[in-house]
Amino acid sequence: MMSEDIANSRANNSLDAYWMPFTANRQFKANPRIFVGADGMYFKTSDGRDVLDGIAGLWCCNAGHKRPRIIEAVKKQVEELDYSPAFQMGHYKAFELADRLARLMPGDLDHVFFTNSGSESVETALKIALAYHRARGEGHRTRLIGREKGYHGVNFGGMSVGGMPANRKMFGSLVAGVDHLRHTHYVPGNAYSRGQPEHGVELADDLERLCALHDPSTIAAVIVEPVAGSAGDHAPQRLSATPARDMYETRHFADFR
Ligand SMILES: Cc1ncc(COP(=O)(O)O)c(C=O)c1O
Repeated sequence: MMSEDIANSRANNSLDAYWMPFTANRQFKANPRIFVGADGMYFKTSDGRDVLDGIAGLWCCNAGHKRPRIIEAVKKQVEELDYSPAFQMGHYKAFELADRLARLMPGDLDHVFFTNSGSESVETALKIALAYHRARGEGHRTRLIGREKGYHGVNFGGMSVGGMPANRKMFGSLVAGVDHLRHTHYVPGNAYSRGQPEHGVELADDLERLCALHDPSTIAAVIVEPVAGSAGDHAPQRLSATPARDMYETRHFADFR
């Protein structure tokens, strides 16, 4: 957009109607940061600046913006077939993509169920786990285990197995029967460590504690992020800044988003 167009569209369009996710709306709208374009690894702002897109959109434009091959492929597909229902009907591209993904996956991960978001993927994975156990006669396996500080999306299942207090606190009891492993943010051990630290295995062993508590026969699935994303990337802190606190203190990291 030319800057005059932007000025017109701002004049004609109030920012009020759009309820922005994970954003302090009043604060943003008092001082909006608007992107109007993107090219390669840069966004273009409404005041004409280039901003490095350090997180690839929201981790979804990893090949970069405005890539000619991607534009061409999207255009070609929309011209040929923009959408067809996925229930009881199909088109070759979905089967082709599933087949290619299955070949890339390790071991016996050889079936693909498509979803529209990470949140929907998590809900689906939890449902598949529960349905799987029920279908093979172990319907008593209903307990789900997540991890403190884990982020698994915005729906009830994902919030329940997730461990982000600010995301959970508004929504009551959430899904019943969920327990959580301890989080892995451990300042004394992680600060400035080289290579793989010695500690950490005890955090996986924590699962045995939960199995003993609930009985292994009740557990349907365990879900953890291999690398924490939404819980924040924590810069190493000076140890002196965290004196005699519990090594696994959570209070200070309760409100990430
Ligand atoms: C591990 C994990 N699960 C689920 C989600 C939710 O994905 P979406 O935002 O596409 O719903 C995210 C998003 O960051 C994620 O990192």
